[in-house]
Amino acid sequence: MNTCRQIAARTVAPGKGVLAADESITTMSARLVTAGVESTAENRRTYRELLATTPDLAAGVSGIIFCDETLNQRFADGRPFPEAVLALGILPGIKVDTGARDCPGLPGEKITEGLDGLADRLAGYAGMGAAFAKWRAVFRIADDAPTAAGIRANAHALARYAAACQEAGIVPIVEPEVLMDGPHPLQRCAEVTARVHAAVIAELAAFSVDPAGMVLKPNMVIEGTEYPAQSPPEEVATATTDMLRALPDDLAGVAFLSGGQAPERATANLAAMQDHRTPWPLTFSFGRALVEPALFAWAGHPERVADGQAALAHRVTANADAVRRRLQPL
Ligand code: 13P
Repeated sequence: MNTCRQIAARTVAPGKGVLAADESITTMSARLVTAGVESTAENRRTYRELLATTPDLAAGVSGIIFCDETLNQRFADGRPFPEAVLALGILPGIKVDTGARDCPGLPGEKITEGLDGLADRLAGYAGMGAAFAKWRAVFRIADDAPTAAGIRANAHALARYAAACQEAGIVPIVEPEVLMDGPHPLQRCAEVTARVHAAVIAELAAFSVDPAGMVLKPNMVIEGTEYPAQSPPEEVATATTDMLRALPDDLAGVAFLSGGQAPERATANLAAMQDHRTPWPLTFSFGRALVEPALFAWAGHPERVADGQAALAHRVTANADAVRRRLQPL
């Protein structure tokens, strides 16, 4: 088996998921300020070390995604983040896109950038010990969006990123995110997500990306945030797993983003997914749904590090338990 296949299988190992702690400096700064913490490089470093050193984190977390700043920082004991995290039994990953910007020619739509110089950056990250990478494309639902051109442009970039990762021996996490913002019903999210996945699958195949050496990080199929009623977990799980059936059978795994769902709801939806038999594991690669309670429990106070870690451990355990339902007979 090649390296990417081995790492991808480890990333979605039974009963484990990924912790997304790769907020850009701008996003992380805004979140720290909301929690009453000054956004300095040292506070961002301290927060990420708090997350990574949560006792027994490796029992439910296979990998942590970091941003470039964190990957270049060191634990308080002087070890570089990638080395220190690996020593904890956790794979270090790196967000390599440079963000979603307004797409010229497509008003209201975004294109994710970061392809220029990507091969060189990936070689550098591989040398630092990064095992996997992430690239996030975003699609907003509106009456006239996303357009076919917006979907095609982002799918193309995702595939070029994924091919470059596999050439560098780094597992690509491919993240096409259909945003929850808006008043649309669940069915509209299902339609748009299916269109996005069809384009992404076609582009990945065109660029000879090995499905067994990558992880897909999709949104769940869910109603918009302004839709008047919340769909129950069974409905979300059925719509999501139905939509996913178009994916190649040999894909290493599916690791969902949380997308702004309340932490408990994301976990309940993930648990309900496990009642559907799929050819690939269905796990989590949550950001906010894992780390938000931890950030507020810590709130920058050195004496509250253990509280922050306990809050993270609580969410990780709940999600690891959710995916372990799959191991039980139906
Ligand atoms: P959320 O789970 O907060 O959506 O974040 C996941 C992620 O990695 C976004 O790129």
